[in-house]
Amino acid sequence: MRYIIGIDVGTSGTKSALFDTEGNCIASATEEYALSQPQNGWAEQNPEDWWRAVCKTLREITKKANGEICGVGLSGQMHGLVMLDEDNKVIRPAILWCDGRSSVECCEIEKRMGRDRLIEITANPALEGFTASKIMWVKKHEPENFARCRRILLPKDYIRFRLADVYATEVSDASGMQLLDIKKRCWSEEICKELEIDTDLLGEMHESPEITGYVTKEAAARTGLPEGIPIAGGAGDNAAAAIGTGVCANGRAFTTIGTSGVVFAHTDTPIIDKDGRVHTFCCAVPGAWHVMGVTQAAGLSLNWFKKNLAETLSYSEIDRQAALLPVGAEKLLYLPYLMGERTPVLDADARGVFFGLSAMHTKAHMARAVMEGVSYSLQSCRDVIDEMGIDTSDMAVCGGGAKSPFWRQMLSDVFGIPVKTMQSEEGPALGAAILAGCAAGVYKSVEEGCRIAVRSGEKTEPDGEKHMQYKKMYAVYRTLYPAMRTSFKALSELC
Ligand code: XUL
Repeated sequence: MRYIIGIDVGTSGTKSALFDTEGNCIASATEEYALSQPQNGWAEQNPEDWWRAVCKTLREITKKANGEICGVGLSGQMHGLVMLDEDNKVIRPAILWCDGRSSVECCEIEKRMGRDRLIEITANPALEGFTASKIMWVKKHEPENFARCRRILLPKDYIRFRLADVYATEVSDASGMQLLDIKKRCWSEEICKELEIDTDLLGEMHESPEITGYVTKEAAARTGLPEGIPIAGGAGDNAAAAIGTGVCANGRAFTTIGTSGVVFAHTDTPIIDKDGRVHTFCCAVPGAWHVMGVTQAAGLSLNWFKKNLAETLSYSEIDRQAALLPVGAEKLLYLPYLMGERTPVLDADARGVFFGLSAMHTKAHMARAVMEGVSYSLQSCRDVIDEMGIDTSDMAVCGGGAKSPFWRQMLSDVFGIPVKTMQSEEGPALGAAILAGCAAGVYKSVEEGCRIAVRSGEKTEPDGEKHMQYKKMYAVYRTLYPAMRTSFKALSELC
């Protein structure tokens, strides 16, 4: 028996999972860590916390493998900026995907590059969430830190560095740095030159299923992994979840409710929304792309609600109470903009809103409104993808939120289409493990890995009547952001 391992360096924690080559999960372990928010709209984490979590979870699962592990794949939260000095020490806390501090730098990037040319090369407008504007922020606000910087890595690529002593990345995650030529799948010399970012700072580029390095003796001792096994390129968490849910061909899509929420659809060609409302990135299948819409605070919204307003309730009790209420939470709406928003509004200044709050509303109404608001936000991602002519009707669901049968049914009712779970709940970790299987020669291609290791689970059918009721609430939901846009901006400008 040979095993493959997938490691997912997430925002709330790291999960490591051991699979057999048929995709059955033999063991998994998760270790959580904190998210620091030094200012409203900022989000940072300490890369050493990720490494500690990786070591701890790997030590736990490698015990079950009798040394028969043939490859490791990495997946992780995208866009985060990790900077190393000449001794490979982390210079400052990583600035994460949901950090919105770099709006001024986004304007500067578009001014230097020209918005059209930027979109032509990177397939996306400048966004606070992407790494390039974070690098520009550090350059401007912490020049002493930037001067010490010798390497720039993404979160999972920092873990690769710790495991294999290489500075490498792969196309799916690198797409989110906004320094990649998306069509050519390599660093864009033009953008790096214009933004004065030395390409020597960036990792060596690979496709997701390629070997990028081998586990070192030192890392083997820390983690229990066998020394010398290959580490695949892996993928950003959403591109990895696509592989873990079998989304590797046109016509397939998935929705995830993790800390963020995403609607992701595979495409054989790089199709771009001219307004940049959804991202077009390279995917983990060599020579293919994907489009995805992002809700910044999906699971994060419910987690925030529970932590601050319903600490004593379990998630299943929150579900139970919310499910007793009618569609629309008796006219209460929630905008999930706790960390600003990407699709479709692209506004780092937007903030969360309960709209229509009445004295008759309870915590249960608020919980239901939070889940509905996240579902509406995901529907607005689908709207844009539909507008682009990309089919999202074959829809898988994954992520922590989709483990709730109540939320899954709500998603299906809001979307008005069936949604299916996968037999394995491991999403990104399974996807990363399949990529490891490709690197180790277990599978001939990513598609073959998906065919062998990914199996559909339960299907949830939409309720037609509820879909019509949700549509009416969704129509009101869509009017709220445009009505509040200038107020969000004015609020962000207050001291
Ligand atoms: C995608 C994005 C998030 C993170 C965190 O663009 O920012 O989905 O990858 O999971």
